[in-house]
Amino acid sequence: MSIVNRFILSPYFQIIYPMKKLLFLSVAALIALSAAGQKFDNLALTPPMGWNSWNKFHCDVSEALIMKAADALISAGMKDAGYDYIVIDDCWQVSRDENGEIVCDPERFPHGIKYVADYVHSKGLKFGIYSSAGTVTCQRRPGGFGHEYQDARTYARYGVDYLKYDWCGSTSQDAKSSYTNMSTALRTAGRPIVFSICEWGSNKPWEWAGTVGHLWRTTGDISDNWNSMIDIFEKQKDLSRYAGPGRWNDPDMLEVGNGGMTTEEYRTHFSLWCMLASPLMAGNDLENMTPETKSILLNKEMIAIDQDTLGRQAICYRENADYQIWVKTLANNEKAVCLLNKSDEKKSVLVDFELLAGIRSFGRGFGGMMPAPPAGGAGMPGMPGAPAAPGMGTPAGQRPQGAGTPGAANPPTATQQRPRMPAPLTLKDYTVRDVWEHKDLTLKETSVYVEMLPHSVKVYRFVRK
Ligand code: GLA
Repeated sequence: MSIVNRFILSPYFQIIYPMKKLLFLSVAALIALSAAGQKFDNLALTPPMGWNSWNKFHCDVSEALIMKAADALISAGMKDAGYDYIVIDDCWQVSRDENGEIVCDPERFPHGIKYVADYVHSKGLKFGIYSSAGTVTCQRRPGGFGHEYQDARTYARYGVDYLKYDWCGSTSQDAKSSYTNMSTALRTAGRPIVFSICEWGSNKPWEWAGTVGHLWRTTGDISDNWNSMIDIFEKQKDLSRYAGPGRWNDPDMLEVGNGGMTTEEYRTHFSLWCMLASPLMAGNDLENMTPETKSILLNKEMIAIDQDTLGRQAICYRENADYQIWVKTLANNEKAVCLLNKSDEKKSVLVDFELLAGIRSFGRGFGGMMPAPPAGGAGMPGMPGAPAAPGMGTPAGQRPQGAGTPGAANPPTATQQRPRMPAPLTLKDYTVRDVWEHKDLTLKETSVYVEMLPHSVKVYRFVRK
């Protein structure tokens, strides 16, 4: 027996060879895995803006409707304000052909989806479409399960720029692997597509979707009423740290203009979504907008807060049963402050602008950085006559130290952090602008009583002088 044969038959070869093979396979699997689930970078660096058919039209979609929505978006000035995606939601699809290709409704889309996409593109807009990770969509149209790569190629051929991917029809599927699979399929198809994950927050997508998609729904569906909207808003409180350029929490599309809320409530809805750095997908009938609806959706100062390049989601700074104060750090050491009157009554609120000017939130939380409340509790902004309650120096929902650092076990104290902080800014460093009145404030006193209607907001931008 040759030396080679003897070696092959030896116990050493029997053990080492399979081990080497295993090692090789593991390295190959690791390489494949690291390539998988890497979404397209450099997309949605600010929250996506556009229009989606669902909230107003549900299954009543057609090529005429979508093309008219594109025209109306432009004629209303919404494209100029930044809304640039036109997205067809559920019900455009009816079946799969003998090759498994998705088939659109031939009556509603007689020229096919690419024709609509081309029209949208010809207007300088971007085109989006909808499917689901399960076997069927929420309206029981064919879903993407088992057809991910095929569908991704089809979408690329259509000229899709944005895919909303729902969670209906999923049974025992694992959410993270299902969405990663579609993300990889899109990547493989080669056309940069914003991937909008719509699994309603059921599997905490904020914890895993940052590398998989560009936005993820955080809750169930919004309805066109105050309770639904405010309930969804409250659920965003602990999610600020997960948002940033290319990765957004999505509290669902806008209901502004659909008729179920008052103008004041719609203004609040829009303001809160902008404070959250939410995607701004209008969901109303763009062809028939009232002047009030237009003035909300087209408030460029409010949109600028949403679209700020720093990409920070606001943090709830103080709250009690009736009020909340939200602060969104903006680029250039500016900030937006939103006072929310959640109550059903008109309120007169003492606002301490000096205190608001001094709030410092450089990280994703306040991290114990803001100045101590003045002795006696005077100047508790937005809380009329409120005495200083124990712990009021700690912003709502935040740990007193290191709150902005997820998992910080032993965060440094405020004193230890101080040397790294730039000099604090005060009210004299800012012009305070009322974002709905479109006016700079002339403050005779640093604390001022502000009248607030029920269910209303006041939004101030602290603009650097
Ligand atoms: C789900 C989604 C909605 C919408 C519908 C369409 O409910 O969350 O946003 O897309 O499906 O059927």
